[in-house]
Amino acid sequence: MGWLDGEVALLTGGGSGLGRCIVDRFLAEGARVAVLEIDPAKATALAAHVDERVVVIEGDATSLADNERAVAATLAEFGRLDTFIGNAGLWDFNTPLEALPGETLPAAFDQIFGLNVKGYLLGARAALPALRESKGSMIFTVSNAGFWPGGGGPLYTASKHAVVGLIKQLAYELCPDVRVNGVAPGAMPTDLRGPRALGLQDTSFGAMPVEEMTERFSPLEIRIMPSDYTGHYVLLASRSNARTATGSVHNCDGGVGVSGRRAMEAAMASLRA
Ligand SMILES: NC(=O)c1ccc[n+]([C@@H]2O[C@H](COP(=O)([O-])OP(=O)(O)OC[C@H]3O[C@@H](n4cnc5c(N)ncnc54)[C@H](O)[C@@H]3O)[C@@H](O)[C@H]2O)c1
Repeated sequence: MGWLDGEVALLTGGGSGLGRCIVDRFLAEGARVAVLEIDPAKATALAAHVDERVVVIEGDATSLADNERAVAATLAEFGRLDTFIGNAGLWDFNTPLEALPGETLPAAFDQIFGLNVKGYLLGARAALPALRESKGSMIFTVSNAGFWPGGGGPLYTASKHAVVGLIKQLAYELCPDVRVNGVAPGAMPTDLRGPRALGLQDTSFGAMPVEEMTERFSPLEIRIMPSDYTGHYVLLASRSNARTATGSVHNCDGGVGVSGRRAMEAAMASLRA
């Protein structure tokens, strides 16, 4: 018996990385899953590797019409929707303000906020009637950058802080029908891309030695993979195990917030010396 037996989820950006792992984990927990994915090759590859428990909708999470089409396809295929997961995102590859060319800054802002914030809001709007009907939930992928500086440049960090605000406001508005929560992962090797305005549309985070990096930045000293985060989504989607959770964000970024311990111990040791 799985934690999500009989449940139906709709997820944006399930073609690679974290979203792809969430699809597999939700299936293992007994759910059926719909995926809104913009990349045709990833959408085709996903559809080829799953069965009738998954429906893949090719489309753009920044479009209200595509989000509505995804919800309609979910209902047509599975007859209900229990959880909407806003997940597709863009990173700014830690580009600091001074390195953002003034002439491209407005377009870079629009592209990052357009997916990371507006995309989640449009998905929430499209999914809301079906979620009210099922008394379901929403889950949004945040980031360590939703809490701390340094996980991105100002565009990404501000966009993920905005997602935390979105979660709290929607949780406030949608009680008692729909629970709204977030998961804030830290770095993991994925195909995360950047905005076209900064020429980063074909640059993949996963091309860097991310796995080794996670072991160094996390005070837990572990290599972190996208699948390590999926249990948080299962828990928050579960009606029986998370019925009291709304407006919360599972901060599971590997301990970024307590990573100052080693530096603090070194400083204290130097004072004692
Ligand atoms: N990789 C990390 O280190 C990291 C850390 C913290 C948070 N996150 C967050 O995790 C989430 C998932 O990213 P990931 O790291 O798995 O990257 P990813 O690029 O591997 O996955 C994102 C998926 O979204 C799809 N996508 C992109 N734009 C889209 C659009 N407009 N409409 C529909 N689909 C679209 C991509 O094709 C891809 O399949 C993002 O919100 C990201 O900010 C990632």
